[in-house]
Amino acid sequence: MQINSIEIKNFRLFRHAELKDMPRLAVVVGANGSGKSTLFDVFSFLKDALAQNVAVAVARRGGFRELVSRGESGPISITVKFRESGGRLATYQLDIGEESGRPLVDREVLKFRRGQHGQPWHFVDFSRGKGAAITNESAYGQAGVKAERKEYVLEDPGVLAIKGLGQFKEFRVVSEFRSLIENWHISDFHIRDARPSVEAGYAEHLSTRGDNIAQVAQYLYESHPDQFTKVLEAMKERVPGVNKVEAKPTEDGRLVLRFQDGSFKDPFIARYVSDGTIKMFAYLVLLYDPKPHPLLAVEEPENQLYPELLYELIEEFRDYARRGGQVFVSTHSPDFLNGAQLDEVYWLVKKNGFAEVRRASESQLLQNLAAEGDLPGALWKQGLFEGVGTK
Ligand SMILES: Nc1ncnc2c1ncn2[C@@H]1O[C@H](COP(=O)(O)OP(=O)(O)O)[C@@H](O)[C@H]1O
Ligand SMILES: [Mg+2]
Repeated sequence: MQINSIEIKNFRLFRHAELKDMPRLAVVVGANGSGKSTLFDVFSFLKDALAQNVAVAVARRGGFRELVSRGESGPISITVKFRESGGRLATYQLDIGEESGRPLVDREVLKFRRGQHGQPWHFVDFSRGKGAAITNESAYGQAGVKAERKEYVLEDPGVLAIKGLGQFKEFRVVSEFRSLIENWHISDFHIRDARPSVEAGYAEHLSTRGDNIAQVAQYLYESHPDQFTKVLEAMKERVPGVNKVEAKPTEDGRLVLRFQDGSFKDPFIARYVSDGTIKMFAYLVLLYDPKPHPLLAVEEPENQLYPELLYELIEEFRDYARRGGQVFVSTHSPDFLNGAQLDEVYWLVKKNGFAEVRRASESQLLQNLAAEGDLPGALWKQGLFEGVGTK
């Protein structure tokens, strides 16, 4: 499954923006405040709305007034087009409004783009807690078969219809999309959170801020030794000196990451190794995940890493995406960008307070220069991404 496009309306500085024809790896650049983090927050927002309800998701972001684009009254709208496992393009649209101060679902629709026979089928079509779902989805596209609908009333007009329906097998596309949202992952790694020891415990995936890295390292070591060996091999190549990393339980039941430097007998605990060492290890653990997330969004991976390492890192992101997922990365680093292909690059420009999305491959000038061998990061540094600062 792959996201094909995202259209955002009235979500903070995205008054109206669309990212179209999204590749498996998308790299987003833009000046400070141009909307990179906000773009990724759209994913977290949908995840919160699904896990809880839209009122909670909106409240977590300061309330409806704060979240809706300045000067607008709503609805806040997110439309995601994705290719479902059967190969068809499906569209999910969520409009969020407000009634008596409480955010609710104004409209929620899941449909295929167009019907081969007559009208497109709206597998899910709800408004303010009421709606219908099609119960014979598998018959879609067969000549002469009509959609069979069932009406539902939700307990709470702030809950997504795909939440309940997605639990049933007969709503295949609904449950596919629901699990895409549940399993997409935003990584905003903070070295400070990854340094201390953690309570011994179990974790298969790295958390958003990376604070469970010791647990995930232990899980990889014990359950996926092949993957762990790959992480170590990459580590040895990229961080001179480091030849072993292990997660060691302490006497008081905590777990500590230890990095062995070949020059010394005793390993260093995570607290005392360099920022770059921890960060590289964290990305390798994230990227060699035996069960990759269907969508991984990574905020500015370049900090603390050696410029030369970024080139390999972007290839690893691409590999991860190839293994069945999709990766979006925001960056400030020309070195990282140099590893990207032009059609993987989007840039954000703020115009009159609102974000506009540009795509590098849409600029003839950039295309010509790239064809002559210029790298995207170099072109960006020369100021050829119109309207974008490099700070
Ligand atoms: N409701 C809103 N309407 C318009 N702009 C907003 C709204 N809420 C926040 N912003 C603006 O959005 C920007 C946030 O950008 P951000 O995503 O953090 O950028 P980046 O990650 O690229 O540095 C800020 O400049 C802020 O002023
Ligand atoms: Mg940011």
